[in-house]
Amino acid sequence: MTEKFEELEIRLLLEALFQRYHYDFRNYAQASIKRRLRQAREQLGFATFSAMQESLLHDAATLPRLLGYLTVQVSEMFRDPSYFLALREKVLPHLRTYPSLKVWVAGCSEGEELYSLVILFREEGLEQRTLFYATDINQDALMRADAGVYSLDRIKLFTENHRKAGGKSSLSDYYSAAYGRAYFDKSLRSRVVFSDHSLVTDAVFAEMHLISCRNVMIYFDKTLQDRTLGLFRDSLARKGFLGLGAKESLRFSQHARSFTEFVGQEKIYQRRVE
Ligand SMILES: C[S@@+](CC[C@H](N)C(=O)[O-])C[C@H]1O[C@@H](n2cnc3c(N)ncnc32)[C@H](O)[C@@H]1O
Repeated sequence: MTEKFEELEIRLLLEALFQRYHYDFRNYAQASIKRRLRQAREQLGFATFSAMQESLLHDAATLPRLLGYLTVQVSEMFRDPSYFLALREKVLPHLRTYPSLKVWVAGCSEGEELYSLVILFREEGLEQRTLFYATDINQDALMRADAGVYSLDRIKLFTENHRKAGGKSSLSDYYSAAYGRAYFDKSLRSRVVFSDHSLVTDAVFAEMHLISCRNVMIYFDKTLQDRTLGLFRDSLARKGFLGLGAKESLRFSQHARSFTEFVGQEKIYQRRVE
């Protein structure tokens, strides 16, 4: 493989992916996208990125295989429990003053963050007045999120996180275990709308009271992070809340002035009234 052409081939491959399927990875952080593409090329058995591009253009089956490499599905329930504790203790008392609520989990992966929020809202008596929107670009992940089935091996960690997040019930109240899996209760999905939505190419979701988007923007370059933050600002109701992941922040963004820090340490912001 000629190293010299690698950059050009990758650019052409990402352009083909966009032109042919409308998946736009052109402004993802370069280093990690290259690493993932190299891994995909090796493991899918292509000699060059050009060969991979040809297959992508002519064989639709290559698309889901490639997307599996380009999107990262690492998640856990109540991940970074102090974030959920801060939502419980500091944000939910404000949300309680609204008669109806809309929550958007952007980049929901296989549903771990979504179920954490639904459980949190249920424990705090707010679930019935809330509509949850769970979005992602990876359709396999969305299908798994909708199924709500996780390996029992992961439940110990989820339970520990839930406890640290101030859980008022036992996590086992929300699932039944069988054949090495935990099947989360259907009722947790009764107020959830799942949808295929890209933060790169799709439009706003209106009048959200809380947007939780964690460990997604780390994969974007600065331009894309700014676009996403603009999308969130326009999707939030007045004084709505935005929760980002531990490694993400509004600092250095052109939209920083549209928000105030609400719980700085947990990267929870509130939309400023302009
Ligand atoms: C590492 S997971 C984060 C899961 C969860 N939010 C958490 O913090 O545990 C990143 C998710 O972002 C999704 N994603 C990547 N690019 C996206 C985009 N442009 N629009 C929406 N979701 C995207 C991926 O498919 C993946 O499910």
